[in-house]
Amino acid sequence: MDYLEFFDLKENPFRLTPDPFYFYPSGSHNEALSSFNYIVEQKEGFFMCTGEPGTGKTTLLNTFLNTDRWKDRAGIALVLTPRLSPEEFLLTVLEDLNVKVKNTNKNEIIKAFRDFLIENSMFGRRIIIIVDEAQNLPDETLEELRLLSNLETEKEKLLQIVLIGQPELRNRMLLENLKQLNQRITVRTTLNPLTIDETSDYINYRLVKAGKGNVIFEDRAKKFIHKLSKGIPRLINLICSRAMMAAYLDMSRQVKKRHVEYAIRHISDVAMPAVKRRKLLRVSLLTALLITASAIAFIMNYSLHITPVADPTHRADRQDAVVKEPPKVDAVNTDKLPAPGIDMVSPQRTLIVVADTANLMSEPSIDSGTVTQASKGNVFEIADEFKETGGRKWYKVKTSGGKEYWINEKSVKLLP
Ligand SMILES: Nc1ncnc2c1ncn2[C@@H]1O[C@H](COP(=O)(O)OP(=O)(O)OP(=O)(O)O)[C@@H](O)[C@H]1O
Ligand SMILES: [Mg+2]
Repeated sequence: MDYLEFFDLKENPFRLTPDPFYFYPSGSHNEALSSFNYIVEQKEGFFMCTGEPGTGKTTLLNTFLNTDRWKDRAGIALVLTPRLSPEEFLLTVLEDLNVKVKNTNKNEIIKAFRDFLIENSMFGRRIIIIVDEAQNLPDETLEELRLLSNLETEKEKLLQIVLIGQPELRNRMLLENLKQLNQRITVRTTLNPLTIDETSDYINYRLVKAGKGNVIFEDRAKKFIHKLSKGIPRLINLICSRAMMAAYLDMSRQVKKRHVEYAIRHISDVAMPAVKRRKLLRVSLLTALLITASAIAFIMNYSLHITPVADPTHRADRQDAVVKEPPKVDAVNTDKLPAPGIDMVSPQRTLIVVADTANLMSEPSIDSGTVTQASKGNVFEIADEFKETGGRKWYKVKTSGGKEYWINEKSVKLLP
């Protein structure tokens, strides 16, 4: 019996695709979607939505695009690869909107675009430019967008512009050179990680969408997943998927905390040492406790006038005993230790493979040999990075076995 049959599910509930069918309207996702519709409805001009990687920005966008609400009432230009010069950007937008331009003179292009906007506006049709990953837009292209947003009649904006991106987009907007653009953003919203209750709902919701089946995540497991993922949906999916696999291998239809523990040990090269580190931390706390206890016993003996010794090594022992502070009760309470999760690896930076497969190279160059491959969802610790003269970036990643490879930025996303 295979995995899906065992759980009586139609499909994997925790796939890492921004599928609108699975869109879960958490507090902030719901608010963002309403704002998105609002600015288009009200012709409010500029909308910006930011969120940490994996919080659901692209899923939100796909949900917006998937509804029937705007299908016949809006023309949408969708820019998914925003590292474009102003000219390239403009041409991409016109192509998406099916606007024909006779020549590539910038003034002519803008004029043709304006005519197109006015014509559509007369029929009440919205024209929307949406940019995903907008944090990658060059400054000049952002400035071009500002100029486009000036296209308006006395009564209304002719164009709605939606920028979706990581928090650095919001920070960039605060810079002096983008001040004017920042002032034009009429509605801005942030996608937050899920709360503990939302995480639990989210897991159930995705299971129902995938056919409900007979799998149950026990409460303790869900709480642990929230702690490890910090409520980031992509990480929740990653952990849930592997935890279900662990439960399946265990022939258990209940996903328990131990399955989640098993899952994080197998998810990443990073989480595993983190768990080990937790054990190590426990051992070292115990050792510290023993050392301190012996030191205290030594001092008590000393203060009970057991003959003091002049031997310098004993003095060193005494100094040790005085320097070492007994551990506070909190410090040995393992509940207060940080969770063994992705955050345990900080301050090390980590990345996740987002391509279906990614080549792991011996050197930071496409000409170097591919040594092996990583799959989507693999998480690695970043040991180093390198930028080619052409601008392509490479990350040196480390596996749990201590091996090091280079991976191209195109196949990965940095984790928060
Ligand atoms: N509200 C949600 N409902 C259902 N699934 C979600 C939601 N938010 C995120 N996810 C899931 O989390 C994963 C990551 O989502 P998505 O790709 O939309 O994130 P993102 O914010 O665009 O990330 P990035 O910054 O890396 O582009 C996907 O598998 C998606 O299905
Ligand atoms: Mg995205």
